[in-house]
Amino acid sequence: MNAYTLVTGGTSGIGFAAAEKLIEEGRQVIITGQNRARLEAAAEKLGCMGVVANSGDTDSVRALAKQLRDDNIRLNGLVLNAGVFIPAGFEETTEASYDETFAVNTKGPFFTLQALLPCLENPCAVVFVSTIAVDKGFTGCASYAASKAAAEAFVRVANIELAPRGIRINVLRPGVTATPIQDKAGISDSDKQALFNHMETMALGRVLTASDHAGTISYLLSDASIAMRHAVIQVDGGYVL
Ligand SMILES: NC(=O)c1ccc[n+]([C@@H]2O[C@H](COP(=O)([O-])OP(=O)(O)OC[C@H]3O[C@@H](n4cnc5c(N)ncnc54)[C@H](OP(=O)(O)O)[C@@H]3O)[C@@H](O)[C@H]2O)c1
Repeated sequence: MNAYTLVTGGTSGIGFAAAEKLIEEGRQVIITGQNRARLEAAAEKLGCMGVVANSGDTDSVRALAKQLRDDNIRLNGLVLNAGVFIPAGFEETTEASYDETFAVNTKGPFFTLQALLPCLENPCAVVFVSTIAVDKGFTGCASYAASKAAAEAFVRVANIELAPRGIRINVLRPGVTATPIQDKAGISDSDKQALFNHMETMALGRVLTASDHAGTISYLLSDASIAMRHAVIQVDGGYVL
């Protein structure tokens, strides 16, 4: 059986657009999501396999890995994309929102990669979807930025430890991208529009869309990037120029 590429958080936004492109390119794709209805709808639209797995719950992540092992599914690509954004000023950030952010954005990719190791082929390319907020201060993003920075740090170490198994991991840092994440974060329509309008003043001249990231993800999964380890590719429309 041909190997698969698994995209966590493939039900919408960047993960969905990446899955769509990878399927167009002839890959067999599996998507995950935490919400069964959204997962089934997305998998049907893409014409691919979908597995419910909550990135913030290690039992659920281990169950995903067991299902793949039981079904003899091998992965030659993995996109660690599932993530949440819970905006809050530093002073207002609650312990609960901090814990949820780190559970999904940091612990999630850490234990997803660990649990899936027995399913990964040699070689296997892994992409971690981070954020430009790691490197650029945005108000309201303290725990979010910290969660992604912490994950980038474990990715660096994993690149060394997992290299003998043919596993390489690279990082995509998207800039502000119009996806369902803004609505899920409770950002008002007027604030969202103001943010998107601000993006029109950047070099790209418009807010990024999810499909703007699909080519980078495809490249980082492909043999064209075979010599890259912990490369950090920032796709931000010129935000930090
Ligand atoms: N949009 C931006 O401006 C932006 C900028 C920088 C970085 N990013 C990063 O890009 C990634 C994708 O975000 P997006 O903008 O495409 O947002 P999105 O449309 O909200 O997609 C997020 C995906 O993650 C999944 N997800 C969320 N919580 C999960 C959990 N606990 N377990 C499993 N899956 C979960 C969602 O699945 P469900 O449908 O099941 O909830 C969905 O498929 C995230 O890691 C985000 O931090 C986004």
